[in-house]
Amino acid sequence: MRCRRLTHHPVNNILVSEWLRRKRDYYYRKAKKESYRSRSAYKLLQAINRYRFVELGDVVVDLGAAPGGWLQVLRKIVGEEGYVLGVDIKEIKPLGYSNVFTIVGDVTDPSIVGRIKAILPRPADVVVSDVSPNVSGIWELDHARQIELAKKSLDIACSTLTDQGNFFAKVFQGDMLRDFIEQVKRYFSEVRLIKPKASRPESAELYLIGLRYKG
Ligand SMILES: C[S@@+](CC[C@H](N)C(=O)[O-])C[C@H]1O[C@@H](n2cnc3c(N)ncnc32)[C@H](O)[C@@H]1O
Repeated sequence: MRCRRLTHHPVNNILVSEWLRRKRDYYYRKAKKESYRSRSAYKLLQAINRYRFVELGDVVVDLGAAPGGWLQVLRKIVGEEGYVLGVDIKEIKPLGYSNVFTIVGDVTDPSIVGRIKAILPRPADVVVSDVSPNVSGIWELDHARQIELAKKSLDIACSTLTDQGNFFAKVFQGDMLRDFIEQVKRYFSEVRLIKPKASRPESAELYLIGLRYKG
């Protein structure tokens, strides 16, 4: 009898090697245990713990929010008085909070700013973005796409943030990063580039923080 080699996990439909890597991953297991929808939640938590750019009562926009790990972290920090809006091209399963809203939308769509503004109760205190493209494995291409999406996120932040608001976005290392940092510096009083501990060391991803929007 011929044996078919199992390459994909029967339930998750991902490569078995990837499934094993995830199972061994510390933050993946921690997220499962603590009921976060993504291991990415810890990247945001670690950044906020260090730079305090989200506070109780804040209005926050989360771009590229599916499946909702960052939304869970944000809701915990802003509490009942705050407001969180998640945007993604994919539908997000409801989180079950009366002050967490989600919409299906594309950050590259020119109508997205109008849609976000129409929903927010007031200008946002913080815009965070974990938007990322499907990675092709071609470094230059992935870098260029990521910076393009980060620029779109910056445009959205500049149109929806209140004076002195904060911005946090994922970028990939590469040639275009320096220019993007210079661009963010024009709009924010302080700019930092960080690699949270929860971000895999082998990944090219970094996060850019823009503090105190100049308006
Ligand atoms: C790394 S995941 C975000 C994980 C999320 N922060 C969490 O903790 O659950 C990146 C997300 O970006 C979304 N995305 C990619 N391109 C997008 C676009 N043009 N507009 C909106 N969302 C996009 C993807 O659908 C994906 O859900």
